[in-house]
Amino acid sequence: MSKKSNIIDHLIPNPDLYGLAFTLDSFNKMPFRPFGNTGLMVSNIGLGTWKYGYPETGDGSRVDEKTAFKIFDKAIEEGVTFWDTANRYNASSGNSERVIGKWLAANPDQRRNVELATKMYGQMDGLTPNYCRLSRVNILESTYASLDRLQTDRIEIMQFHWFDEDTPIEESLLAAEDLISQDLIRYIGVSNFNSEQLQQYAKYSKKFRRSQIQSVQNQFDILYGEEPERKGTLEYCARNGLSYIPFSPLRGGLLSERYLDRSALKAGDRLVDENRLDKELTKDILKKLHLLVDLAHEWGLTLTQLTLAYMLQLPGMGPIIAASSTTAQLEENAKAGKIKLEPEHINAIEKII
Ligand SMILES: NC(=O)c1ccc[n+]([C@@H]2O[C@H](COP(=O)([O-])OP(=O)(O)OC[C@H]3O[C@@H](n4cnc5c(N)ncnc54)[C@H](OP(=O)(O)O)[C@@H]3O)[C@@H](O)[C@H]2O)c1
Repeated sequence: MSKKSNIIDHLIPNPDLYGLAFTLDSFNKMPFRPFGNTGLMVSNIGLGTWKYGYPETGDGSRVDEKTAFKIFDKAIEEGVTFWDTANRYNASSGNSERVIGKWLAANPDQRRNVELATKMYGQMDGLTPNYCRLSRVNILESTYASLDRLQTDRIEIMQFHWFDEDTPIEESLLAAEDLISQDLIRYIGVSNFNSEQLQQYAKYSKKFRRSQIQSVQNQFDILYGEEPERKGTLEYCARNGLSYIPFSPLRGGLLSERYLDRSALKAGDRLVDENRLDKELTKDILKKLHLLVDLAHEWGLTLTQLTLAYMLQLPGMGPIIAASSTTAQLEENAKAGKIKLEPEHINAIEKII
Protein backbone atom coordinates (compact mmCIF):
# COMPACT_ATOMS: atom_id res chain seq x y z
CA MET A 1 0.00 0.00 0.00
CA SER A 2 1.54 3.34 -0.95
CA LYS A 3 1.54 6.38 1.27
CA LYS A 4 -0.89 7.98 -1.21
CA SER A 5 -3.56 5.67 0.16
CA ASN A 6 -3.72 7.71 3.35
CA ILE A 7 -6.86 9.13 1.72
CA ILE A 8 -6.26 12.82 2.45
CA ASP A 9 -5.52 14.32 -0.94
CA HIS A 10 -3.15 17.11 0.02
CA LEU A 11 -3.56 18.74 -3.39
CA ILE A 12 -7.23 19.57 -2.85
CA PRO A 13 -8.52 22.13 -0.30
CA ASN A 14 -10.54 20.32 2.37
CA PRO A 15 -13.00 22.51 4.34
CA ASP A 16 -13.30 19.70 6.95
CA LEU A 17 -9.74 20.51 7.95
CA TYR A 18 -10.13 24.32 8.11
CA GLY A 19 -9.74 26.08 11.43
CA LEU A 20 -8.24 23.20 13.41
CA ALA A 21 -6.69 23.83 16.84
CA PHE A 22 -2.91 24.39 16.78
CA THR A 23 -2.28 21.39 19.06
CA LEU A 24 -4.48 18.69 20.55
CA ASP A 25 -4.28 16.23 23.46
CA SER A 26 -7.40 14.16 22.81
CA PHE A 27 -9.37 12.57 19.98
CA ASN A 28 -13.14 12.09 20.04
CA LYS A 29 -12.95 13.17 23.71
CA MET A 30 -10.47 10.40 24.66
CA PRO A 31 -7.40 11.88 26.42
CA PHE A 32 -4.04 10.81 24.98
CA ARG A 33 -0.70 10.29 26.76
CA PRO A 34 2.88 10.34 25.47
CA PHE A 35 4.31 7.05 24.22
CA GLY A 36 7.58 6.39 26.04
CA ASN A 37 10.20 9.06 25.52
CA THR A 38 8.75 10.04 22.15
CA GLY A 39 6.46 12.68 20.72
CA LEU A 40 3.91 10.05 19.69
CA MET A 41 0.62 10.32 21.60
CA VAL A 42 -1.51 7.24 22.29
CA SER A 43 -5.07 6.90 23.58
CA ASN A 44 -5.43 6.27 27.34
CA ILE A 45 -7.62 3.25 26.65
CA GLY A 46 -6.45 1.02 23.83
CA LEU A 47 -7.81 -2.17 22.33
CA GLY A 48 -6.43 -5.70 22.69
CA THR A 49 -7.22 -7.78 19.63
CA TRP A 50 -5.69 -11.14 20.58
CA LYS A 51 -9.00 -13.00 20.30
CA TYR A 52 -10.09 -11.44 16.98
CA GLY A 53 -9.83 -13.73 13.98
CA TYR A 54 -11.67 -16.30 11.96
CA PRO A 55 -13.13 -18.73 14.54
CA GLU A 56 -14.83 -20.65 11.72
CA THR A 57 -11.36 -21.77 10.51
CA GLY A 58 -10.45 -23.31 13.88
CA ASP A 59 -7.88 -20.67 14.81
CA GLY A 60 -9.21 -20.53 18.42
CA SER A 61 -10.27 -16.88 18.24
CA ARG A 62 -13.48 -15.65 19.94
CA VAL A 63 -14.49 -12.60 17.91
CA ASP A 64 -15.30 -12.98 14.22
CA GLU A 65 -14.67 -10.49 11.44
CA LYS A 66 -18.19 -9.05 11.43
CA THR A 67 -18.14 -8.32 15.18
CA ALA A 68 -14.53 -7.10 15.06
CA PHE A 69 -15.44 -4.60 12.31
CA LYS A 70 -18.25 -3.19 14.49
CA ILE A 71 -15.86 -2.94 17.44
CA PHE A 72 -13.25 -1.12 15.29
CA ASP A 73 -15.91 1.37 14.11
CA LYS A 74 -16.97 1.98 17.71
CA ALA A 75 -13.33 2.25 18.82
CA ILE A 76 -12.77 5.18 16.45
CA GLU A 77 -15.98 6.85 17.66
CA GLU A 78 -14.78 6.49 21.26
CA GLY A 79 -11.20 7.60 20.55
CA VAL A 80 -9.79 4.15 21.35
CA THR A 81 -7.03 4.35 18.76
CA PHE A 82 -4.10 2.37 20.21
CA TRP A 83 -4.66 -1.14 18.82
CA ASP A 84 -2.51 -4.01 19.99
CA THR A 85 -2.04 -7.22 18.01
CA ALA A 86 0.69 -9.78 17.26
CA ASN A 87 1.66 -11.81 14.22
CA ARG A 88 1.12 -15.11 16.03
CA TYR A 89 -2.23 -14.44 17.67
CA ASN A 90 -4.68 -17.33 17.36
CA ALA A 91 -2.70 -20.48 16.70
CA SER A 92 0.11 -18.67 14.83
CA SER A 93 -2.46 -17.98 12.09
CA GLY A 94 -1.83 -14.25 11.64
CA ASN A 95 -5.60 -13.81 11.73
CA SER A 96 -5.76 -11.00 14.29
CA GLU A 97 -3.56 -8.91 11.97
CA ARG A 98 -5.62 -10.03 8.96
CA VAL A 99 -8.91 -8.81 10.47
CA ILE A 100 -7.36 -5.43 11.28
CA GLY A 101 -5.89 -5.26 7.76
CA LYS A 102 -9.22 -5.96 6.13
CA TRP A 103 -10.89 -3.25 8.22
CA LEU A 104 -8.13 -0.75 7.36
CA ALA A 105 -8.48 -1.59 3.67
CA ALA A 106 -12.22 -0.94 3.93
CA ASN A 107 -11.66 2.27 5.91
CA PRO A 108 -8.54 3.88 4.45
CA ASP A 109 -9.59 7.30 5.74
CA GLN A 110 -9.12 5.96 9.30
CA ARG A 111 -5.54 4.71 8.93
CA ARG A 112 -3.99 7.90 10.27
CA ASN A 113 -6.34 7.77 13.28
CA VAL A 114 -4.93 4.45 14.53
CA GLU A 115 -1.68 3.76 16.39
CA LEU A 116 -0.96 0.17 15.35
CA ALA A 117 1.19 -1.95 17.63
CA THR A 118 2.10 -5.49 16.62
CA LYS A 119 4.68 -8.02 17.76
CA MET A 120 7.13 -10.53 16.36
CA TYR A 121 9.34 -13.28 17.78
CA GLY A 122 7.62 -16.68 17.68
CA GLN A 123 7.65 -18.94 14.65
CA MET A 124 5.60 -17.49 11.79
CA ASP A 125 5.65 -17.32 8.02
CA GLY A 126 8.29 -20.01 7.54
CA LEU A 127 9.23 -23.51 8.66
CA THR A 128 13.00 -23.34 9.18
CA PRO A 129 14.58 -22.13 12.45
CA ASN A 130 15.07 -18.75 10.77
CA TYR A 131 11.44 -17.69 11.23
CA CYS A 132 11.55 -17.14 14.97
CA ARG A 133 13.52 -15.08 17.53
CA LEU A 134 15.13 -11.67 17.04
CA SER A 135 17.64 -12.32 14.25
CA ARG A 136 17.98 -9.83 11.42
CA VAL A 137 16.29 -12.33 9.10
CA ASN A 138 13.26 -12.80 11.31
CA ILE A 139 12.85 -9.13 12.25
CA LEU A 140 12.84 -8.09 8.59
CA GLU A 141 10.74 -10.98 7.30
CA SER A 142 8.19 -10.70 10.13
CA THR A 143 7.77 -7.01 9.53
CA TYR A 144 7.22 -7.46 5.79
CA ALA A 145 4.62 -10.17 6.51
CA SER A 146 2.83 -8.07 9.15
CA LEU A 147 2.71 -5.09 6.78
CA ASP A 148 1.04 -7.35 4.20
CA ARG A 149 -1.50 -8.80 6.63
CA LEU A 150 -2.24 -5.38 8.14
CA GLN A 151 -2.57 -3.92 4.62
CA THR A 152 -0.58 -0.88 5.57
CA ASP A 153 2.69 0.81 4.64
CA ARG A 154 3.98 1.32 8.19
CA ILE A 155 3.53 0.02 11.72
CA GLU A 156 3.65 2.61 14.47
CA ILE A 157 5.12 0.23 17.07
CA MET A 158 6.89 -3.09 16.49
CA GLN A 159 7.28 -5.02 19.74
CA PHE A 160 9.76 -7.83 20.41
CA HIS A 161 7.40 -10.40 21.97
CA TRP A 162 10.05 -12.11 24.09
CA PHE A 163 13.69 -11.68 25.17
CA ASP A 164 16.14 -13.55 22.91
CA GLU A 165 19.02 -15.24 24.73
CA ASP A 166 20.68 -16.29 21.45
CA THR A 167 20.81 -13.30 19.12
CA PRO A 168 23.21 -10.42 19.86
CA ILE A 169 21.14 -7.42 20.97
CA GLU A 170 23.12 -5.23 18.59
CA GLU A 171 21.94 -7.33 15.63
CA SER A 172 18.28 -6.94 16.66
CA LEU A 173 18.55 -3.20 17.21
CA LEU A 174 20.35 -2.64 13.92
CA ALA A 175 17.62 -4.52 12.05
CA ALA A 176 14.99 -2.34 13.76
CA GLU A 177 17.03 0.77 12.97
CA ASP A 178 17.05 -0.18 9.28
CA LEU A 179 13.27 -0.66 9.27
CA ILE A 180 12.76 2.69 10.99
CA SER A 181 15.04 4.35 8.43
CA GLN A 182 12.79 3.00 5.68
CA ASP A 183 9.68 4.19 7.60
CA LEU A 184 8.29 0.66 7.70
CA ILE A 185 8.12 0.83 11.47
CA ARG A 186 8.23 4.00 13.56
CA TYR A 187 9.07 2.95 17.12
CA ILE A 188 9.99 -0.21 18.97
CA GLY A 189 8.86 -1.76 22.23
CA VAL A 190 9.27 -5.11 23.96
CA SER A 191 7.04 -7.58 25.75
CA ASN A 192 7.58 -10.11 28.56
CA PHE A 193 10.86 -8.46 29.62
CA ASN A 194 12.16 -7.86 33.14
CA SER A 195 14.15 -4.81 34.22
CA GLU A 196 17.49 -6.64 33.98
CA GLN A 197 16.79 -7.45 30.32
CA LEU A 198 15.82 -3.82 29.72
CA GLN A 199 19.13 -2.75 31.20
CA GLN A 200 20.94 -5.02 28.76
CA TYR A 201 19.23 -3.16 25.91
CA ALA A 202 19.84 0.22 27.54
CA LYS A 203 23.61 -0.33 27.14
CA TYR A 204 23.12 0.36 23.43
CA SER A 205 21.10 3.52 23.92
CA LYS A 206 23.83 5.84 22.59
CA LYS A 207 24.65 3.67 19.59
CA PHE A 208 21.13 3.35 18.21
CA ARG A 209 19.42 6.72 18.28
CA ARG A 210 16.24 5.60 16.54
CA SER A 211 15.70 2.06 17.78
CA GLN A 212 15.36 2.82 21.49
CA ILE A 213 12.96 0.67 23.50
CA GLN A 214 9.96 2.89 24.28
CA SER A 215 7.49 0.48 25.86
CA VAL A 216 7.24 -2.77 27.78
CA GLN A 217 4.14 -4.92 27.51
CA ASN A 218 3.85 -7.24 30.52
CA GLN A 219 1.00 -8.90 32.38
CA PHE A 220 -0.56 -6.68 35.07
CA ASP A 221 -3.89 -6.38 36.84
CA ILE A 222 -4.93 -4.76 40.10
CA LEU A 223 -5.51 -8.05 41.93
CA TYR A 224 -2.12 -9.62 41.27
CA GLY A 225 0.09 -6.74 40.06
CA GLU A 226 3.14 -7.78 38.03
CA GLU A 227 4.10 -11.41 37.49
CA PRO A 228 6.65 -12.47 40.14
CA GLU A 229 9.45 -13.01 37.57
CA ARG A 230 9.00 -9.49 36.16
CA LYS A 231 8.38 -7.52 39.35
CA GLY A 232 9.93 -4.05 39.29
CA THR A 233 9.43 -3.50 35.56
CA LEU A 234 6.65 -0.93 36.06
CA GLU A 235 8.90 1.01 38.40
CA TYR A 236 11.75 0.76 35.87
CA CYS A 237 9.42 2.22 33.22
CA ALA A 238 8.36 5.07 35.51
CA ARG A 239 12.00 5.93 36.27
CA ASN A 240 13.14 5.77 32.66
CA GLY A 241 10.17 7.32 30.88
CA LEU A 242 9.05 4.11 29.14
CA SER A 243 5.38 3.26 28.67
CA TYR A 244 4.30 0.17 30.57
CA ILE A 245 1.53 -1.48 28.56
CA PRO A 246 -0.37 -3.88 30.83
CA PHE A 247 -1.66 -7.00 29.13
CA SER A 248 -4.72 -8.89 30.39
CA PRO A 249 -5.64 -5.81 32.51
CA LEU A 250 -9.12 -7.22 33.24
CA ARG A 251 -7.70 -10.69 33.94
CA GLY A 252 -9.73 -12.10 31.05
CA GLY A 253 -12.93 -10.49 32.37
CA LEU A 254 -12.58 -11.47 36.05
CA LEU A 255 -12.39 -7.74 36.84
CA SER A 256 -15.91 -7.08 35.56
CA GLU A 257 -19.23 -7.67 37.24
CA ARG A 258 -20.13 -10.78 35.26
CA TYR A 259 -18.34 -13.29 37.48
CA LEU A 260 -19.96 -12.23 40.78
CA ASP A 261 -22.81 -14.72 40.48
CA ARG A 262 -21.29 -18.08 39.69
CA SER A 263 -24.70 -19.68 39.07
CA ALA A 264 -25.30 -17.34 36.10
CA LEU A 265 -22.08 -18.26 34.28
CA LYS A 266 -22.21 -20.20 31.04
CA ALA A 267 -20.29 -21.20 27.93
CA GLY A 268 -19.39 -18.01 26.07
CA ASP A 269 -17.95 -16.40 29.22
CA ARG A 270 -14.24 -16.47 28.60
CA LEU A 271 -13.13 -17.84 31.97
CA VAL A 272 -15.68 -20.65 31.57
CA ASP A 273 -14.51 -21.38 28.03
CA GLU A 274 -10.88 -21.34 29.14
CA ASN A 275 -11.63 -23.57 32.14
CA ARG A 276 -10.16 -21.00 34.54
CA LEU A 277 -13.08 -20.48 36.95
CA ASP A 278 -11.88 -22.64 39.84
CA LYS A 279 -8.40 -21.13 39.72
CA GLU A 280 -9.51 -17.50 39.36
CA LEU A 281 -12.72 -17.27 41.37
CA THR A 282 -11.39 -18.08 44.83
CA LYS A 283 -13.21 -17.05 48.01
CA ASP A 284 -10.63 -14.36 48.73
CA ILE A 285 -10.80 -12.89 45.23
CA LEU A 286 -14.61 -12.96 45.19
CA LYS A 287 -14.64 -11.02 48.46
CA LYS A 288 -12.31 -8.38 46.98
CA LEU A 289 -14.43 -8.15 43.82
CA HIS A 290 -17.58 -7.49 45.89
CA LEU A 291 -15.84 -4.77 47.91
CA LEU A 292 -14.51 -3.12 44.73
CA VAL A 293 -17.94 -3.26 43.07
CA ASP A 294 -19.50 -1.55 46.10
CA LEU A 295 -16.97 1.28 45.78
CA ALA A 296 -17.44 1.52 42.02
CA HIS A 297 -21.22 1.81 42.36
CA GLU A 298 -20.91 4.39 45.15
CA TRP A 299 -18.90 6.51 42.69
CA GLY A 300 -21.23 5.89 39.74
CA LEU A 301 -18.75 3.59 37.95
CA THR A 302 -18.64 -0.04 36.89
CA LEU A 303 -15.95 -2.41 38.14
CA THR A 304 -14.06 -2.37 34.82
CA GLN A 305 -14.08 1.44 34.85
CA LEU A 306 -12.75 1.59 38.42
CA THR A 307 -10.04 -0.93 37.51
CA LEU A 308 -8.88 0.82 34.36
CA ALA A 309 -9.08 4.33 35.86
CA TYR A 310 -6.99 3.18 38.83
CA MET A 311 -4.35 1.70 36.53
CA LEU A 312 -4.18 4.85 34.40
CA GLN A 313 -2.94 6.95 37.32
CA LEU A 314 -0.04 4.61 38.20
CA PRO A 315 3.36 6.17 37.38
CA GLY A 316 4.85 4.68 34.21
CA MET A 317 1.50 3.42 32.90
CA GLY A 318 1.00 3.65 29.14
CA PRO A 319 -2.14 2.89 27.14
CA ILE A 320 -4.27 0.12 28.65
CA ILE A 321 -5.15 -2.51 26.10
CA ALA A 322 -8.34 -4.03 27.52
CA ALA A 323 -9.86 -6.50 25.10
CA SER A 324 -13.52 -6.06 24.22
CA SER A 325 -15.64 -8.80 22.68
CA THR A 326 -18.64 -6.51 22.02
CA THR A 327 -19.25 -2.84 21.23
CA ALA A 328 -21.02 -2.48 24.60
CA GLN A 329 -17.87 -3.66 26.44
CA LEU A 330 -15.76 -1.26 24.39
CA GLU A 331 -18.04 1.69 25.24
CA GLU A 332 -17.96 0.82 28.93
CA ASN A 333 -14.18 0.42 28.98
CA ALA A 334 -13.54 3.56 26.92
CA LYS A 335 -15.30 5.74 29.51
CA ALA A 336 -12.55 4.85 32.00
CA GLY A 337 -10.07 6.81 29.88
CA LYS A 338 -11.72 10.08 30.95
CA ILE A 339 -12.09 9.32 34.68
CA LYS A 340 -9.80 11.05 37.14
CA LEU A 341 -9.76 9.38 40.54
CA GLU A 342 -9.18 11.57 43.62
CA PRO A 343 -6.59 10.59 46.28
CA GLU A 344 -9.37 9.35 48.61
CA HIS A 345 -10.66 7.05 45.84
CA ILE A 346 -7.16 5.68 45.28
CA ASN A 347 -6.68 5.08 49.03
CA ALA A 348 -9.98 3.24 49.27
CA ILE A 349 -9.08 0.97 46.34
CA GLU A 350 -5.60 0.29 47.69
CA LYS A 351 -7.04 -0.78 51.05
CA ILE A 352 -8.90 -3.57 49.24
CA ILE A 353 -6.36 -4.78 46.72
N1 LIG B 1 2.25 -9.55 25.16
C1 LIG B 1 1.68 -10.68 25.50
O1 LIG B 1 2.34 -11.70 25.70
C2 LIG B 1 0.18 -10.70 25.67
C3 LIG B 1 -0.45 -11.80 26.31
C4 LIG B 1 -1.83 -11.74 26.48
C5 LIG B 1 -2.57 -10.64 26.01
N2 LIG B 1 -1.93 -9.61 25.36
C6 LIG B 1 -2.67 -8.43 24.87
O2 LIG B 1 -3.49 -7.90 25.92
C7 LIG B 1 -4.83 -7.78 25.44
C8 LIG B 1 -5.83 -7.87 26.57
O3 LIG B 1 -5.64 -9.06 27.33
P1 LIG B 1 -6.68 -10.25 27.36
O4 LIG B 1 -7.26 -10.43 26.00
O5 LIG B 1 -6.03 -11.40 28.02
O6 LIG B 1 -7.86 -9.83 28.30
P2 LIG B 1 -8.43 -8.71 29.28
O7 LIG B 1 -8.40 -7.38 28.64
O8 LIG B 1 -7.85 -8.90 30.62
O9 LIG B 1 -9.95 -9.26 29.35
C9 LIG B 1 -10.75 -9.25 28.22
C10 LIG B 1 -12.01 -10.07 28.42
O10 LIG B 1 -12.79 -9.49 29.44
C11 LIG B 1 -14.15 -9.47 29.07
N3 LIG B 1 -14.57 -8.05 29.09
C12 LIG B 1 -13.94 -6.97 28.54
N4 LIG B 1 -14.61 -5.84 28.83
C13 LIG B 1 -15.67 -6.20 29.57
C14 LIG B 1 -16.74 -5.47 30.16
N5 LIG B 1 -16.82 -4.14 30.06
N6 LIG B 1 -17.68 -6.17 30.86
C15 LIG B 1 -17.61 -7.51 30.99
N7 LIG B 1 -16.62 -8.27 30.44
C16 LIG B 1 -15.65 -7.61 29.74
C17 LIG B 1 -14.27 -10.11 27.70
O11 LIG B 1 -14.66 -11.46 27.91
P3 LIG B 1 -15.65 -12.27 26.92
O12 LIG B 1 -14.85 -12.56 25.71
O13 LIG B 1 -16.00 -13.48 27.74
O14 LIG B 1 -16.83 -11.38 26.67
C18 LIG B 1 -12.85 -10.05 27.16
O15 LIG B 1 -12.51 -11.17 26.36
C19 LIG B 1 -4.92 -8.91 24.39
O16 LIG B 1 -6.03 -8.78 23.53
C20 LIG B 1 -3.60 -8.76 23.70
O17 LIG B 1 -3.64 -7.68 22.78
C21 LIG B 1 -0.57 -9.64 25.21
